[in-house]
Amino acid sequence: MIQVLHISAECYPAAKTGGLGDVVGSLPKYLSKSGVLSAAVIPKYDLKWIRNAEWTTVFQGTYWMDWRQIPFQVQQNTGNPLGFPLFVVHIPGVFDRPGIYNDPAGNAYGDEIQRSIGFQQAVLEWLLSFPWYMRPRVLHCHDHHTGLIPWMVKYAQNYQQLAPIPTVFTIHNGQYQGAFSWRNGHLLPPYQGGARWLLDWNGAVNPMASAIKCGWAVSTVSQSYLYELHQSSMGLESLLQQEWRKEYGIINGIDAHVWDPTSDPMLQNCLQNNDIDAFKRANKKALCDWFGFPEDQPLISFIGRIVGEKGADLLPDAFKSVIHSGGRASFLVLGTGEAWTQNEFRRMAYEYPGRFNAVIDYNEALAHQIYAGSDYLIMPSRVEPCGLNQLYAMRYGTIPIVRSIGGLKDTVPDIASPDGSGRGIRFDQFTVDDAVHALYRAISMYYNDPGIVNWLRHKIMGVDFSWEHVVEQYLQIYRNIGAQIGSEQAPNMPESAPEATESIEMAPVVPEIATENPKTPKKTGRKPKSK
Ligand code: GLC
Repeated sequence: MIQVLHISAECYPAAKTGGLGDVVGSLPKYLSKSGVLSAAVIPKYDLKWIRNAEWTTVFQGTYWMDWRQIPFQVQQNTGNPLGFPLFVVHIPGVFDRPGIYNDPAGNAYGDEIQRSIGFQQAVLEWLLSFPWYMRPRVLHCHDHHTGLIPWMVKYAQNYQQLAPIPTVFTIHNGQYQGAFSWRNGHLLPPYQGGARWLLDWNGAVNPMASAIKCGWAVSTVSQSYLYELHQSSMGLESLLQQEWRKEYGIINGIDAHVWDPTSDPMLQNCLQNNDIDAFKRANKKALCDWFGFPEDQPLISFIGRIVGEKGADLLPDAFKSVIHSGGRASFLVLGTGEAWTQNEFRRMAYEYPGRFNAVIDYNEALAHQIYAGSDYLIMPSRVEPCGLNQLYAMRYGTIPIVRSIGGLKDTVPDIASPDGSGRGIRFDQFTVDDAVHALYRAISMYYNDPGIVNWLRHKIMGVDFSWEHVVEQYLQIYRNIGAQIGSEQAPNMPESAPEATESIEMAPVVPEIATENPKTPKKTGRKPKSK
């Protein structure tokens, strides 16, 4: 039986634009490994991985929107290759397009509101079809695309049967709140009139605000980001301050099996006999050969979306400043994003061969090689709720240079910190000067203190960022809000439940969609029926 259902717009490798996909693609796996079977459900987009995967339809239904009845199917990924059940909601004509949020050219589809409300309703319609004792014990919603669910289950008449299920809402990015005008209010399912104010924030329907109000618990992906949201969150500050009692900050984990230097198939050279020096040297050589860099200079890389949030626009000036002042280092950039910064990087690759290069692309395999072969990874983010790239970098022995913000602050203490906890180099202000100063510290450490570089590599590769630790903290939240997770036995299950017997027969596929071998009899709390 699925105990925790993660509801999200992304799940790696099916659909990913950023860290949200990584988290939803691994948290359910590790929750399931810890004994709490968890699944994820996302919309069925027309994307390569989804097209190539095999799907089994487990539910067919309809939802109403704007006086129209819209048919949909819920399909399960056959064979559970991800290590947990992945479901997609197929709504013909609504999600079967080649982009997650925008078309491949970056233009909005224009019906985001219908799409997001429709997806959330479809998930709830599906859950209604489960006999009550087979329903998940927690609905875990991620980011604003699923932010209306905690409200819908409480106040939309069609879904109120689901109101006893505790909801958790996780903020991966507070910048996007999904707000829309009340003019579109007619797209929402019918609800109790008095519940209108629970949707509203500053005169608009705000799914993120609504989830903060109605969720049983709210989490975000680091303690520092939680604190920062209280100071500045595009208008939600007072709401978040008011709801502090139910808020948690939990750093993300990384999938230590995907990110394993000893076996990563995307690397040119894996770590052997724990010889970190040889691992770094061989992987750096591969990058230097590909990009024409000298091997005896520090290689400083940036990987990520080339957008303001990630601070990528600071890099052209910062890198040029080091190059022009004779700093001996090479710079490599991988990512896609805003046109101005991308073009600037292209120009620099032309102007500074052997010093700077850029790959304007999304390339998972090259990213792995860059984490393994670089000396430093720079993350000058303006905002960084958690940040995963610094964790991947550390796992592969690359020293992070980060701005002291959000999750970067919580995971990368500065090497100069007096308590000896240092893991990298930090700078505070979002200015070219501060970033350049940090780059110079890195370059000088490389030439003047190779012993420290070496010691630091060993140290950061040994830090355990795996999900195993993190999962325990989520389980604690679930328990704090009263979710009956952990035991296969349904809570307070009467010995004989006539309606339950009936509904299991009416919806026979539902109990069979979990990961277990379908032939294994399920423990439902009922006495087995003798045939
Ligand atoms: C978002 C945040 C990033 C975080 C990720 C996963 O992409 O920008 O900092 O690591 O979500 O929670």
